[in-house]
Order: sequence, then structure tokens, then C-alpha cells
Amino acid sequence: MTNKKHASDSVVPRGDVSKRVGVEQIRQRGVNVAELLEMLIDAAGAEFTTYYYYTLLRMNLAGKEDYKEICEDARLEDRAHFELITPRIYELGGQLPADIRAFADRAGCPDAFLPGYSGVRAEGARTVEKLQEQGYKAADILGVLLEAERCAIRTWSEICDVTFGKDPRTYDMASRILQEEIEHEAWFLELLSMEREGISRPSGHFRRGDPGEAPYSKNRGFYNP
Ligand SMILES: [Fe+2]
Ligand SMILES: [Fe+2]
Repeated sequence: MTNKKHASDSVVPRGDVSKRVGVEQIRQRGVNVAELLEMLIDAAGAEFTTYYYYTLLRMNLAGKEDYKEICEDARLEDRAHFELITPRIYELGGQLPADIRAFADRAGCPDAFLPGYSGVRAEGARTVEKLQEQGYKAADILGVLLEAERCAIRTWSEICDVTFGKDPRTYDMASRILQEEIEHEAWFLELLSMEREGISRPSGHFRRGDPGEAPYSKNRGFYNP
């Protein structure tokens, strides 16, 4: 064989299927792959649980059809974020927890409970306690949505930091997700500011073409029908 410098290396022998060049190369560039995987699983858990909780939040925006629509975009885009990042976890040699309860518990962001729930599970209780009988104020729901987006921005910014210049594939995914999270914060900040304080703080947003279009993060339609 002629001497081609990338034909082989000492870390991954030719024919070895127990290691991945795609992992070893980022490790050699300074990524702690085990730590990155933990961060990605926590982040995927947050996207997945947020998708679930946004369903409840959207359902309870009764009478605010414009808010519902914007909540729906953010909800479907969180699902797209979960779909985008999960294959990367496996490529890096990781896996999602076998138990969905373990997955939800390790989500990197707090549960986005409906307003009026205790937020903590009492000793021996199966679920959180409902403190308020009914009637959710839109401003309270928008406040939950806003803080969930802010947690997502912190999460994906950190993943961008640890992958920048070292792991272009994870960085590219994280940065595309981050761009949508920044948009989501701006949307809910605009709505909450007007709803609660009557102050205009425009997001620059009009509307997505279709619900949950996810212009930055969406894979092919096959993955996110
Ligand atoms: Fe997200
Ligand atoms: Fe989001």
C-alpha cells in the first residue's frame, strides 16, 4: 500500500470495530467525550420533557389563539431538537437511559409544570400536588415558557463552548438548536412583557411557515414528520 498519511493511525487499527475514528479525533482535539455525552443526554432529556410539558401549557392557553400557535412552534421545535441530538449521542458511543423515568429525572432543566402545581413531589406521592383548582393566567404560562427557553439557551451555549473548534459535528447541531432557543426566548419575552406589563419589547418575529418548522435544526421530514 502506498503511504497515505490518513490511511491508518495507531489509536484505531485498521478493521477495529471497537473504536471510532470519529470519536478518537475529537478526543485528540481536547474533547472529554464521556463528559460531553453526559451533557448531551441531560440536554436531550430537557428537550424531550419540555416537549411534553409544552403540550400541557399550550392546551391551557385557551382564548389566546396567537399564543397557542407560538407555543406550538416552540413545542415542535423542541421535539426536533431531541430528534437532532439523539443520533449524535449514539454516534459518540453513548445511549439514552433504558428507563424513561431515569431520562426525565436527569433532564438538564427543571420540569415546566403548569402554574399552580407545587413543583415538588411530596413524600410517597406519585405526582406533584395541584395547589390551584383551575384557571391559568396566560402571563403565568408565558413565564414558565420563558424560563424554560432560558435554561435551554444556557444548556446549548455550554455545549457550543466545549465543542467549538474541536468537534464540528456536535458544535454544528448545538449551534443550530441554540439559534432556535434564542428565538424562542425572544418570542415569549415579547408576549410576557406585553401581557404582564403592557410594555412592547419586540422579538422581530412574525410567524413560522408551518407549525414547528424548525428552520435551523430540522432534519429531513422523515425524522420529524
Ligand atoms: Fe429546544
Ligand atoms: Fe425552545
